[in-house]
Amino acid sequence: MPNMTVMPINKTVPAAEGASILQAMLAAGMNAPSQCNGEAKCGGCHIFVLEGRKSLSKVQRLENERLDSLVGVSSKSRLACQVIVGAENFTIEMPSFA
Ligand code: FES
Repeated sequence: MPNMTVMPINKTVPAAEGASILQAMLAAGMNAPSQCNGEAKCGGCHIFVLEGRKSLSKVQRLENERLDSLVGVSSKSRLACQVIVGAENFTIEMPSFA
């Protein structure tokens, strides 16, 4: 099972392949801001993928549209509820933890 490292708290937890990053965070007991039940509507789960992006799912239209409406996005931005975990370890940063 791949590991997910969450910055800036520098916590590493297992993340089930095939789950969303949001689901992995919740399974690890992390408080992930979400107000839309993972439907790419609220933008509260905005994260930056710092490492390991190649094994994660690609950005889809719905996620891309929501990211376009958010402030503070970068080329590393994703919505944790829309990213499916692959086989490799990865590192994310939660802006709301900074
Ligand atoms: S949980 Fe609302 S956009 Fe991801």
